Amino acid sequence: MGVECGVQNDQRVAILGVSGFVGRGLPALLAAHGMSVTGVSRSETGNLPGIDRWQSPSNLDFSGHRAVINLAGESVAQRWNQDARRRLRESRIEVTRSVVAAIRRLPADRRPEVLLNASAVGYYGDGGDAVLTELSAPGSGFLADLCRAWEAAAREAEALGVRVVCLRLGMVLGRGGLAFERLRRVFQWGLGGRLGQGRQWQSWIHLDDLRAAMLHAVTSSSLRGAVNATAPAPERNVDFTLRLAAVLHRPAVLPVPAFALKLALGGFASVLLEGQRAVPNALVADGFRFNFPNLEAALTDLCAC
Ligand SMILES: NC(=O)c1ccc[n+]([C@@H]2O[C@H](COP(=O)([O-])OP(=O)(O)OC[C@H]3O[C@@H](n4cnc5c(N)ncnc54)[C@H](OP(=O)(O)O)[C@@H]3O)[C@@H](O)[C@H]2O)c1
Repeated sequence: MGVECGVQNDQRVAILGVSGFVGRGLPALLAAHGMSVTGVSRSETGNLPGIDRWQSPSNLDFSGHRAVINLAGESVAQRWNQDARRRLRESRIEVTRSVVAAIRRLPADRRPEVLLNASAVGYYGDGGDAVLTELSAPGSGFLADLCRAWEAAAREAEALGVRVVCLRLGMVLGRGGLAFERLRRVFQWGLGGRLGQGRQWQSWIHLDDLRAAMLHAVTSSSLRGAVNATAPAPERNVDFTLRLAAVLHRPAVLPVPAFALKLALGGFASVLLEGQRAVPNALVADGFRFNFPNLEAALTDLCAC
């Protein structure tokens, strides 16, 4: 971005999906680092600390913004019938296309320097035991296809002179997150156990590290392209299960059979039964340091009352 945009504009960031689990704490973090935040939401969610302007996704204007962070997307935690698949695709691919179209409408010297777009380790499909870096090939299946198209839509902004970072998120562990709170409750009741055979790898990241990685990606001009947003130490589901049970001082003796998950959750069960052993090579090479590099430290932090 050119210096002609002025100091104030250079520090403005727009966030789509800001009302969500990952997004809602981000404005306060960015504001603490001297940035102003435009929240983009289908419904202004009122008082989110750090936001001083709102926009509707139907009327995007990123003029003078330093960065755009796109976290929008309907939750994948539902049965994937035909209608749900359409909504999951549209809320990611169409929204990302509209973000890029809004950037394209701007004169070159008013375009953001960086587009930070969410994606997921589901990009790699079922990776088995292979260590997955950003250079690994995409996998197959609904989620892998969705992530590939989502990233391709975001990367259209590269031709507009924008640095694009596609953050492939692992399971985000944080208080208030649906997945983590459900897991914690089930384990606290003593009803926890591995999923299926439990040999699938789980890539995870502590919410604080994820938000710090996003701040890093906004400010580090050397980071671009695909970036695994996962802690450096993925775990097999069976080990994840044992660690969570140990941190909560509860047993983990009730495995959930694969067929029961498939019956209850349909296609979404693949997210739990297939695994990715992703490692954050790009972030580490770019100098990012994790506060919670291993699962025990992350779970101990999150389960402390
Ligand atoms: N949390 C995880 O473990 C995880 C793992 C991998 C990838 N991701 C990806 O990271 C992103 C953020 O995750 P999150 O957990 O914060 O998600 P979230 O809590 O479900 O929030 C996503 C936001 O997307 C917007 N949204 C929801 N449905 C939409 C629709 N049909 N059309 C347009 N916008 C819609 C909503 O914002 P408004 O209502 O304010 O517009 C919502 O606040 C998502 O794209 C998700 O797929 C998350």
